[in-house]
Amino acid sequence: MILALETSCDDTCAAVITSDGAIRSNVISSQGVHDRYGGVVPEIASRHHLELIGDVVTDALTTAGATLGEVDLIAVTRGPGLVAALLVGLATAKALAASSEKPLAAVDHLHGHVAASFLAPDPFEPPFVSLLASGGHTLLAHVRDHGPGYELLGQTLDDAAGEAFDKGARLLGLGYPGGPALELLAQDGDPDAFEFPIAAKLKGLDFSFAGLKTALLYRIRDLGEAEAERLRADLAASYQRAIVEALAMRAERALEQTGVGRLALGGGVAANGPLRERMKRLGVTLDIPPARLCTDNAAMIASAARYVPVLPYPDYLELDVYATGEQPLVTAA
Ligand code: KG4
Ligand code: ZN
Repeated sequence: MILALETSCDDTCAAVITSDGAIRSNVISSQGVHDRYGGVVPEIASRHHLELIGDVVTDALTTAGATLGEVDLIAVTRGPGLVAALLVGLATAKALAASSEKPLAAVDHLHGHVAASFLAPDPFEPPFVSLLASGGHTLLAHVRDHGPGYELLGQTLDDAAGEAFDKGARLLGLGYPGGPALELLAQDGDPDAFEFPIAAKLKGLDFSFAGLKTALLYRIRDLGEAEAERLRADLAASYQRAIVEALAMRAERALEQTGVGRLALGGGVAANGPLRERMKRLGVTLDIPPARLCTDNAAMIASAARYVPVLPYPDYLELDVYATGEQPLVTAA
């Protein structure tokens, strides 16, 4: 059995899976304190992780019907993410492992998002193209094996897709995280009401979402407060459609370029209903993990831990975390 911890952002997570990828528990405690600031405050996230992690681990073990003694491997997210938040998970994992001289596996967060597809009951096997779209990253990778280390096909040149959702939501007066809130508002809107840019001129497989956010800002300004308020749902639906189309267009190009007829979605944005529906229309073999395995969770970290080198006690005690932008999982082709 593998016990994994994930604390890279604002969700305090612990999960237990078996070595064949069956999920025994997957506990996610969303802090829910960051919405008043309009985004995650690293120091506050870190302090909450510290308060929650003990109970979250206990909950994961209890739900799994397991004791710490029965766990064979402790896994933890090492990066990328918020350093102060990651440190809580890594220090806890080291303590749990070292107290009974168990081995430890350090996992890259993005490897975790890809590895959500490898979980039972229907593991999606490589090769496939992975579209990872979260709050911190948006990229396309060619997944030839279970990893870690994938060939980077394209990535965002500015904002991540989740960031575009969050910033758009903020402009529309919605709370954080913006993705789910914007999706809900868009349900009552017309996606054809407004035309927003999808960076169509950008060749290749890179993404750009900064222009989209600016376009929404100007559109709201041009409409005026009252009219923008009246057309809020239409604005949300059209804006969401632009993000979905931008993602679908590049995914389609990546599938053509690689000749791989298989696509997996991952990251928080993959929880988006219209994106999931749009991708189904690409006509390729598609894997979209359940929404709970797309947004940050520890089951995906446990899954990835099955494919990384295991460090015996006490080799991992010196291990450090890494921030966003350091130690990329994916390497250029
Ligand atoms: O993977 P994730 O949980 O955390 C990171 O590693 O960043 O992704 C969080 C991002 C946020 O930007 C959030 O707004 C977005 O995923 N998100 C969504 C939805 N659920 C979460 N975006 C669009 N639609 C959703 N349903
Ligand atoms: Zn994530």
